[in-house]
Amino acid sequence: MSKLDALMARGTAFLGSRVAIMAGAMSWISERHLVSAMSNAGGFGVIAGGAMPPDILSAEIAATKAMTDRPFGVNLITMHPQLFDLIAVCAQHQVSHVVLAGGLPPAGAIDAIKAFGAKVICFAPALALAKKLVRSGVDALVIEGNEAGGHIGPVTTSVLAQEILPEMADQVPVFVAGGIGRGEMMASFLEQGAAGIQIGTRLVCATECIAHPNFKKAFLRASARDAIASVQIDPRLPVIPVRALKNAGTEEFTRKQVEVAAMLDRGEVDMAAAQLEIEQFWAGALRRAVIDGDVENGSVMAGQSVGMVKSEESVQQILDTLMAEAASALAARQAA
Ligand SMILES: Cc1cc2nc3c(=O)[nH]c(=O)nc-3n(C[C@H](O)[C@H](O)[C@H](O)COP(=O)(O)O)c2cc1C
Repeated sequence: MSKLDALMARGTAFLGSRVAIMAGAMSWISERHLVSAMSNAGGFGVIAGGAMPPDILSAEIAATKAMTDRPFGVNLITMHPQLFDLIAVCAQHQVSHVVLAGGLPPAGAIDAIKAFGAKVICFAPALALAKKLVRSGVDALVIEGNEAGGHIGPVTTSVLAQEILPEMADQVPVFVAGGIGRGEMMASFLEQGAAGIQIGTRLVCATECIAHPNFKKAFLRASARDAIASVQIDPRLPVIPVRALKNAGTEEFTRKQVEVAAMLDRGEVDMAAAQLEIEQFWAGALRRAVIDGDVENGSVMAGQSVGMVKSEESVQQILDTLMAEAASALAARQAA
């Protein structure tokens, strides 16, 4: 067994894949084509169920199963009003892995997933929460740093990895995400105890990815510094920052926050409804860019690794490149 295979063994055993690389769920993007391509290429695809009602999720799982016989997961957002219905859909289809994103899962969610035999993977934004999640029975963790595309936490991947891997990696498999564009980085996190990695940005320009050609072009043109985090305008309205390519849509978000803050002031919405309004704004803006190709006014969510996305390639080529880079980094260290 190669050194790289040995380092990935725990992750591949947990996922049931050939390589310990998860395709992080990306709303509108992570549907049957990208997910099945990822799993068929030996990685682990994850359907983005966050913006889907139960019937659409059910159809997407069935369609993905028709395109791959390899394991894949389903990502659900904890604040989704129909979370338990979506879990029931996963149960009907006997989904093997459910990823819960967007905050601590509500009471009963983890048990409801484990009850039908699936493995539960949760995002851990801090060490204390990682410990709490493991105590609640989650089977694996994703730690995602601030460099990532989409909704982000405040802490970088390198710091989260140093805080969480030494304490948690021997308890449950931990997958590291955020800013990973090359295999050398994957090798480093595996050596630090990670079970595998999760990537998003690096996969957007895959040939199998259904994102609009304009969305892919924006990725190919961008460099790391173009992928900026959104700014919170009103201190009373806590919004989760989103990392995306700077465009007119970025300014539109500023206007949206002012509008929602005014609705809060007038008592037209409470805080939970205000936050949901913001999340719906993002889902709509992302759809506009990914599906309609309006990369000026929509949201082109992208991580800082966007500068390392240089051409449109198949998922297999992307995984092969990452694996070759990781293997040669490890070989160079062994030879030294
Ligand atoms: C366009 C885009 C959309 C995303 N949508 C979601 C989502 O719906 N749910 C989720 O849990 N993570 C989402 N993410 C985060 C990814 O799943 C993944 O963790 C992240 O992209 C990893 O960091 P990287 O972009 O630096 O590779 C999204 C990321 C991007 C780039």
